[in-house]
Amino acid sequence: MEEIHIPVLLSEVVDGLNLKSGSVVVDATVDGGGHAREILKKLGQEGKLIGLDWDSGMVEKLRKDLGGDVRVKLFHSNFSELEKVTGPYRPDAILFELGLSSLQLLASGRGFSFKSEEGLKMTFDPNQRPNAEEFINTANVRDLEEVIRKYGEERFAGRIARAIERYRARKRITSAKELSEIISRAVPRRGRINPATKTFQALRIHLNHELENIENGLRGAWEIIKPKGRIAVISYHSLEDRIVKNFFKEKAKNEEGKLINRKPIVPSREEVTKNPRSRSAKLRILEKL
Ligand SMILES: C[S@@+](CC[C@H](N)C(=O)[O-])C[C@H]1O[C@@H](n2cnc3c(N)ncnc32)[C@H](O)[C@@H]1O
Repeated sequence: MEEIHIPVLLSEVVDGLNLKSGSVVVDATVDGGGHAREILKKLGQEGKLIGLDWDSGMVEKLRKDLGGDVRVKLFHSNFSELEKVTGPYRPDAILFELGLSSLQLLASGRGFSFKSEEGLKMTFDPNQRPNAEEFINTANVRDLEEVIRKYGEERFAGRIARAIERYRARKRITSAKELSEIISRAVPRRGRINPATKTFQALRIHLNHELENIENGLRGAWEIIKPKGRIAVISYHSLEDRIVKNFFKEKAKNEEGKLINRKPIVPSREEVTKNPRSRSAKLRILEKL
């Protein structure tokens, strides 16, 4: 069966970006092109879509699908270097959808999913180092605890770090499944959510420098966006959303930007039923004045 990723808040994003025929749009997290395909429908013949993704596999795959469209330019790049990639283009709209796609979650050998028995990388760029396996098998227990507490907001961080330390003294941890089982045994079960959720999130944020990337990405986006242009960001957890909210608020306070929505836009109940992955999404949009 073909794996699919359902684009989140699709009409809200496309409407919110205020796209016109001829617009230049940057999709800074283009992935499988879920949003990009819909955006392209609004751009007419003269528009441009510049797509970036840090995952080279996603970019290659999308080149095969969209490469024939002369309006599309795709780059394997971290959006923290946005302004370098976009070169002379001044976009009318920029979209970021933070985090992981369903396609990456299901991809074998990446270790993003709790169930994966092969590989434990957790990096968006598969060649990036250190990866999760290297980090959890070598970091000292205090650093492990700090990462899990800070980026996972996990109150059992100490217990989890010590359980990892005890286990790896006997055997190297080599799969996501193995790691999630160590965590599950170390903490009390909480509802239906997998007990390893917060730790996996923490490792991903730490290894990929996700929070720094967002700050740099927003700064770069602000530099290159045209006046009256819009920046839209979908985030999935509070640490990311706080950075976006504060950045946007600051621009509005200084009267350099206008918040298009005072409160973040969230998916309808209907969307969450169809696509449970969308449930924690928050969309914020800022216009440059
Ligand atoms: C949630 S997906 C985007 C899905 C896309 N909007 C769609 O509907 O098809 C997030 C994507 O962002 C990419 N990504 C994460 N951090 C990145 C970064 N710093 N620079 C560029 N891409 C990044 C991931 O590799 C992933 O493909």
